[in-house]
Amino acid sequence: MERTDLMTGIEKDWDKFLSLPISQKLPFFSKENRIYDCLFAQQFDRQSLSHLFSVADTLRKFTKKKEGMDFASSLLSHKRAMLYFVQPSTRTFLSFLNACHILGIKTGEIRDTSTSSELKGETPEDTVRTFSSYVDMIIMRHPAPNFVEKTAWLMNRTNRPVPVINGGSGKDQHPTQALLDVYTLHRSFDGNIDGKTIAMVGDLKRGRTVRSLSYLMKNYKNIKLIFISPKEFAMEKDILDFLNKHNMPFYETDNFEEGISQADAIYMTRIQDEHDKSGESKKVDISAFEFKTKHLKIIKQKAIIMHPLPRRTEIDIPVDEDPRAMYWRQERNGMWARAALIAHIFSADGQILKYK
Ligand code: CP
Repeated sequence: MERTDLMTGIEKDWDKFLSLPISQKLPFFSKENRIYDCLFAQQFDRQSLSHLFSVADTLRKFTKKKEGMDFASSLLSHKRAMLYFVQPSTRTFLSFLNACHILGIKTGEIRDTSTSSELKGETPEDTVRTFSSYVDMIIMRHPAPNFVEKTAWLMNRTNRPVPVINGGSGKDQHPTQALLDVYTLHRSFDGNIDGKTIAMVGDLKRGRTVRSLSYLMKNYKNIKLIFISPKEFAMEKDILDFLNKHNMPFYETDNFEEGISQADAIYMTRIQDEHDKSGESKKVDISAFEFKTKHLKIIKQKAIIMHPLPRRTEIDIPVDEDPRAMYWRQERNGMWARAALIAHIFSADGQILKYK
């Protein structure tokens, strides 16, 4: 029997939708020229990025004072959000949680399927539909490929749709990480990202952050990408095809020192061994792809060192003391960038920009 004979109508519809090119899917996830469900890095263009960065900059500035924070937390005090993070997370979870609280949104959370009725056999699809009975937004991280997209698609077919934000989905994408990464580039280079050389290092094959960041770099002019990895963890072909299609120059190398010495931003990543099936990561020597204190001498004076975190051995701890180490600021930027995105989805961004 064919697989399609066993599928329900909804599953067939979903299969059909999933196979559409991204350009045809995007209208389904936006409303009134705004991002409604944030699922893919390709949803951001240069104009929307610039707008979100202005919103984030304005918000973080005026919330330094109590009256500013009181104003921010009144903006969306009528909204509730569910954080459904059933894959480990520290900073994505906490930055979304705190972004919600900055805007006055009340939050609930599930961080483990063993504490939800999924343990009793409820499907993940019914579980997420249940959230929409109680809240106005779902922010989620899920290990299953495409499940965040499926959730948004399912929600949009119900009579109570709520926006869905992807906080990391399988090894596909992590669009809000890419948003905060570009926000960090924007702040570090005084708004001048055009012309920069970005080196991405480590597990490029399974790192969803580098995939999403590669997509976002298309929005800037004369960007050069250097992919530095052992051949076992080289960037996937779909991303290289995307870069070729958009005439974005890149090269791949396993020469760490040569690659980082040319870069304006060095984006370190860890080996994603949670995706291993039989400990294959252990067979690859990654010691030549770690940023040691000695490397501070060979990188550009104004280069920045980034990492989505968490780190293991990819960056020596003493590197943290160097002003070019940007990863702790990068993770804080995430809270503001995510607050700006949530404000945009709920149309509160205009009020933020107007705040005096
Ligand atoms: N960068 C990132 O996604 O970190 P967490 O896994 O801690 O959320």
